[in-house]
Amino acid sequence: MQLSSISAMRFRSTQLLNGNQKYAIGNTTKSAVVVILLPFTVLLIVLSFSVTRSSHNFPSPMIYAATTTTSSLESLDFNVTEMKPCNIFSGEWVPYSEGPYYDNETCNLINDQQNCIKFGRPDKEFLKWRWKPHECDLPLFDATLFLQLVRGKSMAFVGDSVGRNQMNSLLCLLNHVALPEDISKRYATDPVYFRRWFYADYNFTLVTLWSPFLVRTSDGDPNGHSHNNLMMNLHLDKADESWTNEVKNFDFVIISSGQWFFRPLVFYEKGQLVGCHKCQQKNVTDLGHYYGYRKAFRTALRTLASLKGYKGVTFLRTFSPAHFENAEWNNGGSCERTRPYAKEDAKFEWYIFQMYVTQVEEFRAAEKKARKRGLKFLMLNTTEIMLLRPDGHPNNYVHRRTKNNSNSKVTIYSDCVHWCLPGPIDAWNEFLLYMLKLESQKSFISSLQRFV
Ligand SMILES: *[C@@H]1O[C@H](CO)[C@@H](O)[C@H](O)[C@H]1NC(C)=O
Ligand SMILES: *[C@@H]1O[C@H](CO)[C@@H](O)[C@H](O)[C@H]1NC(C)=O
Ligand SMILES: *[C@@H]1O[C@H](CO)[C@@H](O)[C@H](O)[C@H]1NC(C)=O
Ligand SMILES: *[C@@H]1O[C@H](CO)[C@@H](O)[C@H](O)[C@H]1NC(C)=O
Ligand SMILES: *[C@@H]1O[C@H](CO)[C@@H](O)[C@H](O)[C@H]1NC(C)=O
Ligand SMILES: *[C@@H]1O[C@H](CO)[C@@H](O)[C@H](O)[C@H]1NC(C)=O
Repeated sequence: MQLSSISAMRFRSTQLLNGNQKYAIGNTTKSAVVVILLPFTVLLIVLSFSVTRSSHNFPSPMIYAATTTTSSLESLDFNVTEMKPCNIFSGEWVPYSEGPYYDNETCNLINDQQNCIKFGRPDKEFLKWRWKPHECDLPLFDATLFLQLVRGKSMAFVGDSVGRNQMNSLLCLLNHVALPEDISKRYATDPVYFRRWFYADYNFTLVTLWSPFLVRTSDGDPNGHSHNNLMMNLHLDKADESWTNEVKNFDFVIISSGQWFFRPLVFYEKGQLVGCHKCQQKNVTDLGHYYGYRKAFRTALRTLASLKGYKGVTFLRTFSPAHFENAEWNNGGSCERTRPYAKEDAKFEWYIFQMYVTQVEEFRAAEKKARKRGLKFLMLNTTEIMLLRPDGHPNNYVHRRTKNNSNSKVTIYSDCVHWCLPGPIDAWNEFLLYMLKLESQKSFISSLQRFV
């Protein structure tokens, strides 16, 4: 896929542009339905969505305390001395005959947009691979262990719908051990974008905080450009309050973002217009999307590194690659493959590499600051791993609401951005568990050392 293809994206629904409905999902207007159909939902829903309107004052997650007590590490069923350091992100996908942890029958929390099996995906081989690090074996996801590690704690996924995709995978991975209560409505005005789950038996709160740009946004000037191409204004030096107001009390924050930055955007710093991406205005410098991406991550990660009262562990989940083939995403491009790439076949396209490198650089700089404050910043380094999985996307096997709008010619795009559930994205939570385990082992050991 060409960079320009994503950047040149046009929105076809003028109705949505003029509408005032806050979010398209769940709305019954035809145009909203059209939006849901599109695989690039991540990119499109923002049309009618102003992040600035969406900050909610959630009470602290601690209010929902359950009856269980926190357990000490000794009661966990893993051997704290046996974990050797291992670079889990360097490895390969290997055949695994056991198949996935769950399916559309055993987990009823799969979004229709990612429920590939339910919506007719015929091939199942994509479910029969596991990630094998070169230096060790990645342990299978152990739901009980995960819940023990997060007992009495809270975890937030901050970012866009691919982050939510990972959270949904986690819900399904935990599903056979504990069912969460959906407590979204008690907190947020929008339970889709700001979703909250509570695992009463473990006093564990899991949330997703919608912030696809991570920084403050406002709708662009609707008169400034063609009206089917509404631009967002990004305030690159101001983190988005819809998550910064929330994460202070969280123990784990998993931050990510990606595809939205290919849209036309106008950049502001210190309240001044500094440039844009694809705004096509003669007197505004086009700084490209990496500029915005870098600055947004810089602001978001540094905000976490210096956020007053925040003591959580931060995970950056690196850029998730899309796999459109044969044509551009909006021109019939699709992802039909049924097997992973062999390493030599995967092309680390320059734009993907650049997104990844940008994040890694900003992560390293912020991590230094965080370390000085005693904060842990960790990386879920999944970009290259997922590059090998062109077979993991929904493509056309997702929920299609019947559209019948005689006035508009609607093209349905393939979704080669999100990941099927179950699917290779489940590995992200295996990585997450591995890292949580390692961290708790380290803190256990350092707490022992305090006594000697
Ligand atoms: C934990 O693992 C270490 C190293 O593999 C081993 O020596 C030790 O016996 C194990 N302890 C328990 C309680 O299993
Ligand atoms: C991320 O993992 C890839 C292998 O999948 C490796 O080549 C790269 O160096 C890792 N990046 C970092 C920053 O650790
Ligand atoms: C699961 O998917 C199959 C198709 O593979 C479908 O027949 C079945 O109805 C689905 N079950 C649920 C609960 O969605
Ligand atoms: C539940 O967890 C919160 C922290 O998330 C803690 O403040 C509270 O004391 C816990 N409640 C119980 C009953 O353990
Ligand atoms: C760019 O030019 C237009 C039209 O000449 C003008 O309205 C606008 O204010 C200018 N923008 C900037 C940032 O100078
Ligand atoms: C779409 O609408 C037309 C006319 O309004 C109708 O004849 C046709 O059956 C509808 N198609 C579907 C799939 O609902």
